[in-house]
Amino acid sequence: MEKLGSSVCPAGNTAAIDGDQAREIGRCVIIVVLNAPPGSIIFRFSRSIPKQLTETGMTILSFVTATLLLLTASVFGLWVTRASLYRNLGTLQAAHRKRPADLAGLIPGHVRLPKFDQRLVRMENILPRDVFEPIREEIAGLVDTERSYLLSHKKGGTVAYETLLQKAPRTVQLYLSGELSDLISAIVGEAVGPTPLYDQSSCSVLFYERPGDHIGWHFDHNFYRGRHLTVLIPILNTGHGPDGLSSARLEARIDGVAQFVSTPPNTLIMFEGQKVLHRVTPIDKDERRVILSMTFATDSSANLLQGIKRRIKDTAFFGLRALWT
Ligand SMILES: [Fe+2]
Repeated sequence: MEKLGSSVCPAGNTAAIDGDQAREIGRCVIIVVLNAPPGSIIFRFSRSIPKQLTETGMTILSFVTATLLLLTASVFGLWVTRASLYRNLGTLQAAHRKRPADLAGLIPGHVRLPKFDQRLVRMENILPRDVFEPIREEIAGLVDTERSYLLSHKKGGTVAYETLLQKAPRTVQLYLSGELSDLISAIVGEAVGPTPLYDQSSCSVLFYERPGDHIGWHFDHNFYRGRHLTVLIPILNTGHGPDGLSSARLEARIDGVAQFVSTPPNTLIMFEGQKVLHRVTPIDKDERRVILSMTFATDSSANLLQGIKRRIKDTAFFGLRALWT
């Protein structure tokens, strides 16, 4: 190779030369090589982008831009929808609060309330029949549950507070009733109230209805500054157990010893789940256990970290929508 030809690209772009044939690569070319032996190939490296790669790059860039725009629009749309839904739910909750369940006599003066020194109590036949039956019928009509699977830890169906607000008014009216809060306050020895509207677990219904539905040993998370109480009222519990109840049994570890807590319908079970280790054993085939679960707190305000943790937990149970609550 003795001499470079007449039109060398000033930027030094690439050219491949096969013998006397110069072939354009990219947008620049042009080298003529004299006396190059046939079959020889000469490469000059260039900073320019080959045409094919340029087109591919533009296609990828367009795709990424379109995806980002679509994602941004979706997130914004979801945020607007959720904000609107929660404005409506707030109005709905205020209306339910004005029509509380009639629970006069829920705290009978002549009955001593159970002590909460072990942070777990139970009271049978807690609700008057004319309050319990309409709630049972209302909950029986909730057919769409959200199934959750957390590896081997939890399996079961749930109906969240935002659904109950819209479809189960009597259940929500029970949750919001001053009598129920008064009863819990009297047992705990501190004033308590319902947890906030945006907490999906404030008032929810848990369904153990497919073989193996259960939840393993755990403490409840407390997402609030105050003490956090869980109140369960079984709505339905049928199965092959000797007591006619299902195999899904609540167990709590008190003073290091696991204790069985019987959960027949219309029994109030209240415990401080942050301090009491508990689980529900797996349910069998052809058994059903439906539990109304309500949470209360002595102070339901939350710091930033507690708010983030609560969203993560709700997202695990109720999906991405819980991020916008
Ligand atoms: Fe729990």
